[in-house]
Amino acid sequence: MVKSLLDGADLKLGLFSANCSSGLAVTKIEDRWQATWDDNLRLGKLADEVGLDFILPIARWIGYGGDTNFHEGVLDPVALAAGLLAETERIFVFATIHTAFNHPLVAAKAMATVDQIGKGRAGLNIVAGWNKPEYDAMGIDLPLDHNDRYAYAQEWWEIVERLWTEPGRYDIDGRFWQLKGVESAPKPSDGPLPILNAGSSPQGRDFAARNSNVVFTAVAGPEDGAVVVETVKANARDTYGREVGVFTPSYCVCRETRAEAEEFHRWYAEENADWDAVDNLMRLQGLYAMSFTEEMLSLFRGRFAGGHGTCPLIGSPDDVAAEITRFRDAGFGGMSLSFVDYTGELEYFAQEVLPRLEKLGVRLPR
Ligand SMILES: Cc1cc2nc3c(=O)[nH]c(=O)nc-3n(C[C@H](O)[C@H](O)[C@H](O)COP(=O)(O)O)c2cc1C
Repeated sequence: MVKSLLDGADLKLGLFSANCSSGLAVTKIEDRWQATWDDNLRLGKLADEVGLDFILPIARWIGYGGDTNFHEGVLDPVALAAGLLAETERIFVFATIHTAFNHPLVAAKAMATVDQIGKGRAGLNIVAGWNKPEYDAMGIDLPLDHNDRYAYAQEWWEIVERLWTEPGRYDIDGRFWQLKGVESAPKPSDGPLPILNAGSSPQGRDFAARNSNVVFTAVAGPEDGAVVVETVKANARDTYGREVGVFTPSYCVCRETRAEAEEFHRWYAEENADWDAVDNLMRLQGLYAMSFTEEMLSLFRGRFAGGHGTCPLIGSPDDVAAEITRFRDAGFGGMSLSFVDYTGELEYFAQEVLPRLEKLGVRLPR
């Protein structure tokens, strides 16, 4: 199945963060996204029907404060993936799992179960950790040194991979885990599940190059994105002899005219932005993660309100299709989309933008 996500035949499109209240829009508008299961089920079925390729949820336990406590309500990604996979036919669903909060023996079995439900359409997004308030809430120390964070993640992943592939009962004697007499069944039906990782620090990019099939990375735009794609792919190839796909997240406001799209963006992401939450989010990102470069953090406060610092796709259907094409031309194999109203806006996107992308040769008809 990972083959179809990484076949290079065309640009893959998916949804990001629809399991979180407000999605990626740090806004106070009244009808912001609620992220209930009913919302997500309707959205998942629609995404499946219109031919989107994947759904990527966020794992989050503590909101970012502000008036809305941005990301206060978040559906658990593993349970969500199980539910969505049971109710869809073609779309790929990743579950997001933090290495520090999930014992590898528990995670291996949970995801092997999800794999059976999805009949080969499940994937795993590994998070090595960054968000200190969540570590505090869990009563666990966030390793402040990135080398330790990723050494822990590496050992976690090697245990999960072994449990997914090696039969029998055995001991595991590592630096972080000493496990006696472990065994794990069922195993995923077709070997290890596709792995996505969004590490951005040098250690994070190295982890992704070594272990993942899809490297998800936030960029400032297609121009710097082209350099990132080249570097990530070359690192994976040269250091580990592996081929990886590089995807990037975006947020989309598409309306009949560019003026209408810009007006809606101004309304929800400027006039009604939850600026306290934006500033908390940016402060935590700046302190503990390297997802966004210092330059991006200093330039893009507005983008954090609009879509959590991801790249904006704002305009008419022609504008949005043209911008997506620029990301394809930069070498990205896929993009995630988020919307203020995921279901209503995906319907319009599918009606207006997907056919344009097909005409441009960026997407093949599904
Ligand atoms: C597309 C994408 C998805 C991510 N998903 C999550 C998530 O669900 N939960 C989370 O805590 N962090 C998430 N992150 C953060 C990354 O996993 C990673 O921890 C962060 O980029 C910091 O990496 P670094 O420590 O290598 O700088 C995501 C980042 C991106 C770009």
